[in-house]
Amino acid sequence: VTTVSVEAERLPDHVVYGPGTVARLPDLIAEAGARRVLLVCGRRSFEASGAVAALPGLREMASVTRWDDFSPNTDADDLRRGLEVLREVEADLVLGVGGGSAMDMAKLLCAYQGTDGQGVHDAIRAGATIEHRDAGLVLVPTTSGSGSEATHFAVVYIGHDKHSVAGPAMLPDRVVLDPELARSGSAYQRATSGIDAVCQAIESRWATGATDESREYARRALALCLEHLETFVAEATPASATGMGIGSHLAGRAINISKTTAAHALSYGITKRHGVSHGHAVALTLGPFIEAHATAERDVLQPQVDADEHARAMEEIVGALGADDGASARAVFIRLLEAIGLEPRASRLSIVDDEERRALAATVNLERLGNNPVAFAEGGLVRLLEQAE
Ligand SMILES: [Fe+2]
Repeated sequence: VTTVSVEAERLPDHVVYGPGTVARLPDLIAEAGARRVLLVCGRRSFEASGAVAALPGLREMASVTRWDDFSPNTDADDLRRGLEVLREVEADLVLGVGGGSAMDMAKLLCAYQGTDGQGVHDAIRAGATIEHRDAGLVLVPTTSGSGSEATHFAVVYIGHDKHSVAGPAMLPDRVVLDPELARSGSAYQRATSGIDAVCQAIESRWATGATDESREYARRALALCLEHLETFVAEATPASATGMGIGSHLAGRAINISKTTAAHALSYGITKRHGVSHGHAVALTLGPFIEAHATAERDVLQPQVDADEHARAMEEIVGALGADDGASARAVFIRLLEAIGLEPRASRLSIVDDEERRALAATVNLERLGNNPVAFAEGGLVRLLEQAE
């Protein structure tokens, strides 16, 4: 097991990092010159995380309107209502405090500020790159984590259809990365958020869109998250919270470059159709994907994948898990899920028959699976889901 020094991690200048740094929010808002702030946050997590302690100070610096009336799977109808609030408030800064959903919603509000009514749905469907925003954007993750504070994209649903909104203007001006905020979540919350970061690091490492830079982020993220996740879920010690806070942020930086792959693509249908939370849904198929990718012959790799590079990626992932081949790496990953209290068997989460597996495979946009190193058609995804039993 590689031990990674947290102190050695250099974070970019716009990230304010450290235990207790949420107290600096009022100063950061003042520095940004914001007068009217729309606070987008989780309904309970804002209080539970302790982020609420910054609110009186914020109110001294600007008028603050809180909006938390949206569901966990960011939805275009919620976004429309949020945009109405944004217009009424005439906010010049959006402050997103929460997990992946709250931060995604804050990014989406900035992206579509000034668009109203049906125009929001049309703009999402048109899928134009988000090049500009008028409002300032500050993000404060309270889970470790989606890494949404480090990515230039966000998911939004129109009904059951998943859309990805992306562009340079989706990146925040400032991030407050306070590892203390994530300690108060439930053990399940810490497990499902933390395993999301592990999966994002692994998927980023093997993604066809990976670069040298994203591979380096992914390596460091994976080492940190694997070192700290179990303790973070069991006890949420300050040291484990720090390791997971930085690890999940680095995993976000990794997928910001490489994007995610097939396990994430399959997870959205599992979340929508079976109500399994995001990280847990991704983890259900990641074990079988690890084995399938580690044992893949050259002829099933995507044409743009260098077979030697893919072998190196899998060697690193298998090694990081402390295993020596694909099958044992999958077993280690499943033991990790059990150790952090996540059910690893899809069958126990009502994904029980072939009809359902085919329905899930059909939710995946196969074109977008081009980022997965191994080519999977719909039948391959059905077989993969069978292995997740
Ligand atoms: Fe994720």
